[in-house]
Amino acid sequence: MAKPAQRNDVRPARAVRHSFTLTDNETGESWEFPTLHGTMGPKVIDTRKLYSQAGVFTYDPGFASTASCSSAITYIDGDAGVLLHRGYAIDDLAKNTDYMDVCYLLLHGELPSPEEKSEFDININRHTMLHEQLVRFYSGFVRSAHPMAIMVGIVGALSAFYHDSTDITDPMQRMIAAHRLIAKMPTIGAYAYKYSLGQPFPYPNNNLSYSENVLRLMFSAPTDEYEVNPVLARAMNSILILHADHEQNASTSTVRLAGSSAANPFACVAAGIASLWGPAHGGANEAVLNMLHEIGTKDRVAKYIRKAQDPEDNFRLMGFGHRVYKNYDPRAEVLRKTCHEVLEELGIHDPTLDLAMELEEIALNDDYFKEKKLYPNVDFYSGIILRALGFPTNMFTVLFAIGRTVGWIAHWKEMMEAPESRIGRPRQLYVGSKKREFTSVANREHTDRKISWSWLWGGKKTAD
Ligand code: CMC
Repeated sequence: MAKPAQRNDVRPARAVRHSFTLTDNETGESWEFPTLHGTMGPKVIDTRKLYSQAGVFTYDPGFASTASCSSAITYIDGDAGVLLHRGYAIDDLAKNTDYMDVCYLLLHGELPSPEEKSEFDININRHTMLHEQLVRFYSGFVRSAHPMAIMVGIVGALSAFYHDSTDITDPMQRMIAAHRLIAKMPTIGAYAYKYSLGQPFPYPNNNLSYSENVLRLMFSAPTDEYEVNPVLARAMNSILILHADHEQNASTSTVRLAGSSAANPFACVAAGIASLWGPAHGGANEAVLNMLHEIGTKDRVAKYIRKAQDPEDNFRLMGFGHRVYKNYDPRAEVLRKTCHEVLEELGIHDPTLDLAMELEEIALNDDYFKEKKLYPNVDFYSGIILRALGFPTNMFTVLFAIGRTVGWIAHWKEMMEAPESRIGRPRQLYVGSKKREFTSVANREHTDRKISWSWLWGGKKTAD
């Protein structure tokens, strides 16, 4: 059967006849702005000429109503709980395919033919090892370093090793950089874990699938044969697929913004990892387990539900709610089933996991959470699965980063290929002082403000 043509390009959204009129109620002046229609989703007002024509900016902290780019990779309808990658539903992909298929799809726009699939596997496999010199970087970190701190450092350092794939104007080099990043992430992440344990670093085994390799790299030891449990490898495959991409989230937008200045892809992905680390984003799966530890026992769940509802209390139920999904998170639906499969396969009786199930039950039936449409998100279940698989909590976001790397690099590549790309440069609403005269220190007024900085370094004379 003939294969549809490859679709690597971003098709710029088309301006249609409709337009929006902006009227300044003070002066009565009006301006017309065209609307753009994508293939799905709400129409978009093209405000690129807003400042040059009307002399105003838009104000949208958090980008809740701002499309920063056009993209053909992922479509989300948060109200309907829809997530499509290149048109394919996330649950279809998670149920029917493997992570390599999804990587190819995100990068190239189509599912691979059998030949393309095996060629892609070979391309990824040839890059799974780390440069031995790079391996020595790990010993520069303290053993207690957070693995995400190591990830930021090591991934950023890749740009110092692979000069043959940092010419961003060369499509071949861009693709090699993409393959390198996807291939090396499990090795980089596993070594961060092994380093914390003081265990030797295993080499990747290219006879295994990507998800099997993740498990083997993390959990094997040279003293024993490591047999990959197929149920757990399937769960890892689901986790990787479900984290592979999520449109213009904070870390992907960070990668795009960093890349818009023509920075190299390794540096851009390191920036994405830094953004992912935050507890409101990828760090939420780790925060879920920390929260469960804080709650401690089932009898304290009700107290924490009350805290989450108290407007005077900053506490939030980690792993609940989403900026975009206001009915349910389709990724969480898939992972919920995987979560229960893994717990059954491993026959684990873990009070923390029991507590998680109790919290899920109570929050799903609680009026506050129902009214505000706060459902368990992907991080709630991935945190529980990763704990059941044996990962320490500080490795959870690393697993997220491994899965998301393809999304970051697919968006970076798309941006590089898009004719409309420009350096990202948001504007601001300035609320500081108006211009004022400079006064030299001798002429400034005396005050009785007492500023002491010694608390910064604990009163010590020298900094650590
Ligand atoms: N627990 C208790 N109340 C909450 C929670 C929560 N987890 N999330 C939102 N709310 C309340 C919030 O207090 C606010 O109430 P009110 O209207 O009375 O002020 C209302 O719901 C709307 O919250 P918001 O902060 O305006 O919503 P947002 O869209 O800006 O935030 C969120 C989304 C994911 C940052 C937030 O729900 C949250 O902090 N969740 C916990 C952290 C978490 O699980 N993050 C992972 C997100 S999914 C992974 C990813 O894609 O990166």
